[in-house]
Amino acid sequence: MVLVKTEKELKAHLSSLNAHKGLGLVPTMGALHKGHASLITKAVSENDTVIVSIFVNPTQFDNEEDLIKYPKTFNADLKLLERISDKIIVFAPSIKAIYGNQVKSRSYDFNGLDQVMEGAFRDGHFDGVGTIVEALLTIVSPNRAYFGKKDFQQLQIIKKLVETQKLAVEIIGCPIVRETNGLALSSRNERLSKTLRSEASFIYKTLKAAKIKFGTKSASYVKEWVQKQFKEHPELRLEYIEITDVDTLQSIQRKKKNTKYRAFVAVYAKDVRLIDNIALN
Ligand code: PAJ
Repeated sequence: MVLVKTEKELKAHLSSLNAHKGLGLVPTMGALHKGHASLITKAVSENDTVIVSIFVNPTQFDNEEDLIKYPKTFNADLKLLERISDKIIVFAPSIKAIYGNQVKSRSYDFNGLDQVMEGAFRDGHFDGVGTIVEALLTIVSPNRAYFGKKDFQQLQIIKKLVETQKLAVEIIGCPIVRETNGLALSSRNERLSKTLRSEASFIYKTLKAAKIKFGTKSASYVKEWVQKQFKEHPELRLEYIEITDVDTLQSIQRKKKNTKYRAFVAVYAKDVRLIDNIALN
C-alpha cells in the first residue's frame, strides 16, 4: 500500500503503473468501517489499482461542531486498507492542497435533487459534496468511482454531477452494510452509547415494516405510521420520513406503475444524526 498526500505525488505514482483493467476511486472521509471496506473490496475486484481518498471535507458540514467531532482514526484506517489489498493507493490531501486559500464550495444546479431531505436540512451540504467529488474525479481521472446507497441521495446527486460536468467515469452504487441488529454502519455510530446503539436498531426495523405496509397502503399513510412509531420511541427523534421516486427524489402523492420508490429517514439519537433508507418495491 502506498500513501500519497499531493496531486503531484499521486500523478507520479500513477504514471509508473500499468492499469489495463482500470483505475477505481473510493472517496471517503476516513474513520473507516465495514461499510467503506465493502466498497473498497468491490473496487479492488474490478480494477488494477484503487485509490482510496481520505479527506474530511469541511465545506459539506453545515454544523461546525459536527465537523470538529467527526471521528479521525487515520492509523487504524491505514491498517484496515493494508489488510484489504496491496493495490490500494491512499490519497490523503491537506485542506490547502484541495482548496488553496479559499475553503469554499462551488454552486451547482442538481435539478432539484439537492433541495429535499439532506439538502433541505443541511444547508450547502451538497454543494460541498459536489465540490470535493468533482475535484477528486478531476485529479484522479478514474474509470470507476464507488459510492454507498447508505447515502442514496448523495449517490443520485453524484450521477447528476457526472452527467452535467461531462466526466468520463462510471458511478457504481453499492449496497448498505448493516450491523447484525440492522443499524446501518456509519462513522457516527462510534459516538453512540452502547444502549443507544442497540436502540437505534429500531430505525431499520421500522423501515422494513414500512416497506411491507407500502405494499397495500398509500405513501401518506405509511409516512404517518412511521411518524407514530417514532413518537412512541422518544429516545430517537425523527427529523424526516420521505417516500420518493428514486430518480427524481421528489415526494410522491400517488403510486404509479413501473416506478421505483424508496423511503428515507433522518433520526437523532441524542445529538448524533443518523440516516437510513430502504427500497420499497
Ligand atoms: P463517508 O461518510 O466517509 O462515506 C464514504 C462512502 O462510504 C460513501 O459512498 C458512503 O455512502 C459509503 N458508506 C458509508 N457507510 C456505508 C454503509 N453502511 N454501507 C455502504 N456504504 C457506506 O460519504 C462521504 O464520506 C462523503 O460525503 C464523500 C463522498 C467522501 C465526499 O466528501
